[in-house]
Amino acid sequence: MAGNAVMIVSIEEAISLLRAGHVVALPTETVYGLAASIHDPRAINNIFEVKNRPASNPLIVHIGSPNMLPLFARFIPKYVYKLTDAFWPGGLTIVLKKNSTISGDVCAGQDTVALRMPGNEIFLKILAETNTPLAAPSANPSQRISSTHHQHVESLFSSRVPVVAGGSCRVGIESTIIDATNNDLIEILRPGAISAQDIEAVSNIKCKTREGNFISPGSSKKHYSPLKKTFLVSNQLINKKINIFLNHAIIISRTLKFLPGKVINMPLKPEHYAKKIYDSLIQADSMDGDSIIIEQPPQTSRWHYINDRLKRAAHKIL
Ligand code: TXA
Ligand code: MG
Repeated sequence: MAGNAVMIVSIEEAISLLRAGHVVALPTETVYGLAASIHDPRAINNIFEVKNRPASNPLIVHIGSPNMLPLFARFIPKYVYKLTDAFWPGGLTIVLKKNSTISGDVCAGQDTVALRMPGNEIFLKILAETNTPLAAPSANPSQRISSTHHQHVESLFSSRVPVVAGGSCRVGIESTIIDATNNDLIEILRPGAISAQDIEAVSNIKCKTREGNFISPGSSKKHYSPLKKTFLVSNQLINKKINIFLNHAIIISRTLKFLPGKVINMPLKPEHYAKKIYDSLIQADSMDGDSIIIEQPPQTSRWHYINDRLKRAAHKIL
C-alpha cells in the first residue's frame, strides 16, 4: 500500500491484503469492522495496535456459516442453532466455550470465544473467498464512536487502514452479544437491535441482561464518546433551557424543529434512529459549539439498546 494515498480498496484488493496478513476495514450491517485473519498472529496483534485496544479485550470471530461453530466451540447448547436459524446472518454474537483450535490472542486468554455471521454481502463474499474466519472489532480507536460509513473509517484512520466502501451500515449499532455457555439460561452481555424478548421467543430459554462485574470486558462505562462534552437530557429540561443550550451547544433531538447549525434532527422510530445516531454524534463533534445535548429518547424496551449507547456516549445525564 506504500505511496498510495487512496485507501478505499476493492473487494478483490481486500482479499489479497487479508491473505497477505494486513488489517482491512470492512462493512457489516451493524458497524464497520477492522478485520484480520484469525490464523495470522501478527495481523491480530496489529488490530490491537491500530485500535489502541487493551490485549485483555477479546475480539469477535466472524464466520460464514453456523456449520463452522463446532470448529471453535467445545460445547454448543441445542438452542444455539435455533438462534442461528432465526438471526444469522445478522446482529447476534454468540459467546461459547472455546476449543483449543483458536488462538488465545483473539480471545484475550479467555476460555470462551465470541462468534457471529455478519449480514453483509461484501463481508460474506470476503469470508467465502479468503476461506478464513476474520476477527473484527468495531472500526474506531478504543473508547471512540464506532464507524457506520466508510468515510468515518477514513477520517479516523486516514492512510493507516485500507477500507472497502460499503456506504452506510443498515443497522448502525453493534450486535447483541449473548453468553450461550449454559443450557438453561442466556445472558445478554451487550444489548443490540435483537432484544431479549426476540431471543426468548425463538429459543424458549430464559434470557436476561447480565449486570455487575461480569459483563463483556469491552463494556466499560465510558465508550462511544464524542470529543465534545456530551449530555443526555430529558425533553422537559431541553424545553425549559432551550435558549441557554442554543447559545453554546449542538442539540440532537427527535422533537425540536430543524435549526441549521444548531439542531440535528433524529428519526422517530428506533430502528431509523439507530442507523443515524453515530453519524449524528460524529457530525455534532465537527460543528460549531462547545458541547452536545442529546434529547433522551423514550425509555421503553424497543429503545433499550439505543439508550445503552447514549448513556455511554454521555459524560453526564441531566
Ligand atoms: O456488531 C458488532 O459486533 C461489530 C461488528 C464489526 O461485527 N463488532 C464489534 O466488536 O462491536 P468490538 O470488539 O468493538 O466489540 C465486541 C465486544 C467487546 O466488548 C468484547 O469485550 C466482547 O465483544 N467480547 C468478545 N469476545 C468475548 C468473549 N469471549 N466473552 C465476552 N465478551 C466478548
Ligand atoms: Mg467496539
